[in-house]
Amino acid sequence: MPPKPPNVIAIYPGSFDPITNGHLDLVQRGARMFDTLVVSILRNDSKLPLFSVEERVDMLREVVHPYSNVEVDSFDGLLVDHAAARSATVLLRGIRAISDYEYELQMALMNRRLRPEIETVFMMANEAYSFISSRLVKEVFGLGGNISGLVPPSVESRMHDRMPTIKQREDR
Ligand code: PNS
Repeated sequence: MPPKPPNVIAIYPGSFDPITNGHLDLVQRGARMFDTLVVSILRNDSKLPLFSVEERVDMLREVVHPYSNVEVDSFDGLLVDHAAARSATVLLRGIRAISDYEYELQMALMNRRLRPEIETVFMMANEAYSFISSRLVKEVFGLGGNISGLVPPSVESRMHDRMPTIKQREDR
């Protein structure tokens, strides 16, 4: 195993469609643990996203602006290859509930098999946000529910702009 690098770079991967306050909490805490934290958006996602990758990059850049050691990137293909290309040695993931654990464990073990030198680090979601997911935020918003406090204000305003698309999808 290679020794600890002088600068630990961690990748926080995900779809972030859109970023929620739960994600942002992990970014804040991750920024205090690692020298550099790269929030990386998966490009080739099979799910039909509400926001394009470019829109998500913009939204993420807006909200991570206060953290000087946090960057935003996107990737195609294997996460561990992206991590290696960015010289990252850590993958950061959040766990909200026990239901997240099985999927996360599977991914962490597969990623370890692919590149054992890259370690997955799990952080427990802040209990205040442990019920929030991007999927539920979109569903509640589309049905007219209040999402303030669940996503950053700039994201909420972009969701309002996207309301016609959200409504169209519901009508299908
Ligand atoms: O926000 P999500 O959907 O929980 O993020 C899932 C993500 C992006 C972390 C995962 O789908 C991923 O890493 N995809 C990249 C392809 C890959 O490396 N697959 C093998 C992982 S075991």
